[in-house]
Amino acid sequence: MRREIAFLKKEIQGKINRITDQEELKQVRIEFLGRRQGKLTSLLKQLVDLPLKERPELGKLINDLKSYVQEVLDKKEKVINEEKNIEEVDITLPGKRPFLGGLHPLTQILQEIKRIFATLGFEVVRGPEIETEYYNFEALNMPKFHPARDEQDSFYLSKTHLLRTQTSPVQIRVMEQQTPPVRVIAPGKCYRRDAIDASHYPMFHQVEGLAIDKGMAFSDLKGTLTYFVHQMFGPNRELRFRPSFFPFTEPSAEIDISCAICRGKGCRVCSGKGWLEILGAGMVDPEVFKKVNYDPEQYQGFAFGMGVERICMLKYGVDDIRHFFQNDLRFLRQF
Ligand code: DAH
Repeated sequence: MRREIAFLKKEIQGKINRITDQEELKQVRIEFLGRRQGKLTSLLKQLVDLPLKERPELGKLINDLKSYVQEVLDKKEKVINEEKNIEEVDITLPGKRPFLGGLHPLTQILQEIKRIFATLGFEVVRGPEIETEYYNFEALNMPKFHPARDEQDSFYLSKTHLLRTQTSPVQIRVMEQQTPPVRVIAPGKCYRRDAIDASHYPMFHQVEGLAIDKGMAFSDLKGTLTYFVHQMFGPNRELRFRPSFFPFTEPSAEIDISCAICRGKGCRVCSGKGWLEILGAGMVDPEVFKKVNYDPEQYQGFAFGMGVERICMLKYGVDDIRHFFQNDLRFLRQF
């Protein structure tokens, strides 16, 4: 009888894999577990013919096999039902729309800036994020002991190298490589040791601009930036050029645009001024030309630098720079 039990176990293991539907499953269930003629039922019935002391042990073996058969059949039934459900999927229903990622708002603004300056013939160039003191400061007419070179304000990597604090050093690298006319923009990351708040972040993006040719004047700078602002913010925005100072431009200016919220009357967004600062600019200082062996008698040029986060905040009314770097989908999905 032991052999028969072992044989039945093998048999059910073989059969279970060949079952493909509910009907076959039912047949196998009857074949093994049927009350009248099931193979296991007959085995149990045969127990009475055995000597008394062998019965309990064999009875247990048969009952164990019975539980085993029940278990494998139940499992198989589940699998068959699941497969049936899959087949019942209605393939004519409209599909679920997959969630597509989008471009980060800063990437979008950067693309727009590049597009606008491309229409004026500006080429895109890049410079390294790790700069030497020479390119980041010295060549830009910020000699040693210039307050902006303070270690408190910059991420120094060694005595001579630091993470660039501005994209302006790319101006120097371009002029070293090219002879005029020059017309480039240089987008990229900049780093400063600023405490984080609503308008400061230790990493941010700038776009530098540089145009050099014979006979360039401040009016070329004005025309270029006016065109840029009208393209970026719409033709009704007004611009204001305020005298300012940068070591590498002379004269220098800071450019404001009229506040879109109050239309120049003064509100919370513009701190009551009616104007919002968007970039720094000026005519390239002859001292800078000397560093790259351009003849200031022959060539003139203008430069400008803008913060990409700032432009994006002004364009979309974003009130906190930290939103750009927190990767909160509720923010990002709005763009
Ligand atoms: N590099 C300046 C800054 O980070 C911005 C700037 C001002 C760039 C005037 C220029 C410029 O090219 O002409 O504050």
